[in-house]
Amino acid sequence: MTRLIDTYNRSIDYLRISITDRCNLRCVYCMPLEGIQLAEHDNILRYEEFLRIVRICAAHGVKRIRLTGGEPLIRKGVVDFIRNIAGIKGIDDLSLTTNGVLLEEYARELKHGGLNRVNVSLDSLKKDRFKQITRADNLENVLRGLDEAERAGLSPVKVNIVTIKGFNDDEILDFALMTKKKPYHIRYIEYMPFDVGVGWQRDKCITTTEIKGIIERHQELIPLGDHEKRTGPARRYRFSDGIGEIGFISPVSDHFCGSCNRLRLTADGKLRTCLFSDDEIDVRSALRGGFSDKEIENILFNAVRKKPERHYINDNVFKKCSRTMSLIGG
Ligand code: GTP
Ligand code: 5AD
Ligand code: SF4
Repeated sequence: MTRLIDTYNRSIDYLRISITDRCNLRCVYCMPLEGIQLAEHDNILRYEEFLRIVRICAAHGVKRIRLTGGEPLIRKGVVDFIRNIAGIKGIDDLSLTTNGVLLEEYARELKHGGLNRVNVSLDSLKKDRFKQITRADNLENVLRGLDEAERAGLSPVKVNIVTIKGFNDDEILDFALMTKKKPYHIRYIEYMPFDVGVGWQRDKCITTTEIKGIIERHQELIPLGDHEKRTGPARRYRFSDGIGEIGFISPVSDHFCGSCNRLRLTADGKLRTCLFSDDEIDVRSALRGGFSDKEIENILFNAVRKKPERHYINDNVFKKCSRTMSLIGG
């Protein structure tokens, strides 16, 4: 088997697919209230088209698939799609990133369909603030969704918190303390610059060092895993009396590009080799233009060859990424 290896010798074994650009929330740091320009329905890949890409990737060493959005649970047929992916030889980790609004309803079906785990985005545990951030009144749904995901056996249940200064930084400790009662993996993500007209500013980004300091003022954090040999974007810790984990994802203060194993596919059929690179490679026209598997394989290999060494969000040359997160999927 020829593996997808890039020019920096990184092995690409993780494909993240945004299955829809639509979302049932309007998080202020992600989307303007009126929403954003969405792709025309015909330009969104059909499930069979995604499956063809997954099969080709799996034949070249891709083992992990994450479904994202927008909000993946609002696309009809997602459970059958999951069942089909789970049946592809070579795929051994299938996960989903969701805002959790529909998770209570879907958790069991997702598990039965073959989903292994979920990451739930949640930036506040306060009803009013949740409403302010997401412009929707769904905190209770998300909390019930987390419970149901755990009960359904989706494991681990990870909770993604984007920490923004003056916005939700007073809740940092509250999230960490959840790990004493729940087996959740709480992960703080540094606020990254996307060009969505909501004005990212560097001084709004709270660094991992600051977040960790706030938690450690309360209680010591015990490191987990091998911090030198990174297996994912998060640096992981726990409280001595915790049942869950606490992780820090530091794309701004300490990038993890050297160990990046990811390739992204957008809902409208573009490959992105880096979250922050706007150089997209079109596969939709190949899928719809009668290309053979071999030809599509070549497009994948060429894309991987162009994967940038790292992101440049800390360099003066950096320009904010033109797609917002809801169009890439995280
Ligand atoms: P896996 O266990 O490897 O699936 O990762 P995870 O469960 O830690 O979750 P995920 O990879 O979705 O990472 C969580 C968040 O970290 C994402 O939603 C992004 O905000 C951020 N992130 C993930 N991958 C990247 C990346 O390649 N570059 C940057 N800059 N940020 C990333
Ligand atoms: N910086 C960091 N994380 C972000 N997300 C969305 N926008 C940003 C940003 N600017 C997160 C969401 C979700 C995941 C897909 O990415 O909250 O958890
Ligand atoms: Fe919020 Fe995620 Fe929807 Fe963006 S895609 S509005 S971050 S729930």
